[in-house]
Amino acid sequence: MDLYPDAPPSFPEHEGKGLFISYCAICHSLKYISTQPDFPAKTWEAEVNKMIIKYHAPIDSATAKIITTYLVAVKSKH
Ligand code: HEC
Repeated sequence: MDLYPDAPPSFPEHEGKGLFISYCAICHSLKYISTQPDFPAKTWEAEVNKMIIKYHAPIDSATAKIITTYLVAVKSKH
């Protein structure tokens, strides 16, 4: 449980974290991600693509790949 419920969620250190933090908090809180269950890799890939295609997130494909890899590394069942 968070000690300060309104504080931004913290995410594990891993390659790609910086890009994830900068790009995925443009439109909504990072809680949209922290409150999700651990997703399989395919689901994160689809989720990131949905942000780009449906909601027009300004993320190029190379960056999207790094962010997806980050999410799979820290928030996925292996
Ligand atoms: C251009 C704006 C925008 C950006 C940038 C963005 N999102 Fe979203 N995201 C949305 C919108 C809009 C929703 C739906 C909000 C709602 O339903 O209340 C959403 C919802 C979500 C959800 C909740 C589940 C769902 O599919 O609705 C997740 C998870 C999510 N985003 C992850 C991400 C990740 C990961 C990134 C970074 C790659 C990201 N978002 C970047 C706009 C964005």
